[in-house]
Amino acid sequence: MAAAPRQCVGPGHQSQDQKPSATVSAKVPFVNVHVLPQSPQLIALLSMIRNKDTERADFIFYSNRIIRLLVEEGLNHLPVIEHDITTPVGRTYNGLMFQGKICGVSIMRAGEAMEQGLRDCCRSVRIGKILIQRDEDTSQPKLFYDKLPEDIADRWVLLLDPMFATGGSATMAVQVLKARGVPEDHILFLNLIASPEGVSNFATKFPRLKVVTAFIDQGLDEKNYIVPGLGDFGDRFYTI
Ligand code: PRP
Ligand code: URA
Repeated sequence: MAAAPRQCVGPGHQSQDQKPSATVSAKVPFVNVHVLPQSPQLIALLSMIRNKDTERADFIFYSNRIIRLLVEEGLNHLPVIEHDITTPVGRTYNGLMFQGKICGVSIMRAGEAMEQGLRDCCRSVRIGKILIQRDEDTSQPKLFYDKLPEDIADRWVLLLDPMFATGGSATMAVQVLKARGVPEDHILFLNLIASPEGVSNFATKFPRLKVVTAFIDQGLDEKNYIVPGLGDFGDRFYTI
């Protein structure tokens, strides 16, 4: 496993030698994989949710803050058209508006934790669900159920799952979407923490699909958990 990259992270008023050094995301050579800027804010939020001693209420709060950053960045990858408007003082502003319909699709259970962040940014957004569970012993994903908007083939799909380990669950979800007629380049996968293996398998298999992630971690352990990771996201978010 490659050593985790460290870099000095801090605001402009701290000189370079005052800035603390923190572990930042690994880099990957895929143009369709976008990693959020490794800002002090993001690293501090990730430090909260990675900490094994963070209690559930804080885990939810800080996860939601990162989810919001991911959704906001994800929206930057949707198509826009020119949209000129007139302001209350009678001037023209040359602006933009989004073009096309979108929907969210969460990979249950953990992906449902990202739905509110999407709703907060996109009022009345349609949200579909795919229930995929990873077998605890083999790490193989199993598809149980899906409920997707009828016209999903005509929508841009924001696929939601916070954890991207082997990539098996996300791959299965993309196969479901493609079988329903969604073009690969209309799928945007939003996730909090990815493994380099998962990202690499996925980007090779689906070169036209975009991934927006907060962090690419060091790798996987012998149980295919992401390391250093944050443990089981679903358990930490949903279990009291
Ligand atoms: C977790 C996670 C992803 C999957 C990632 O879900 O939310 O869906 O594992 O692992 P992979 O990339 O190796 O497939 P899990 O199946 O544990 O169910 P949960 O959402 O109920 O926690
Ligand atoms: N699912 C999780 O919740 N965490 C991991 O590290 C891997 C799969």
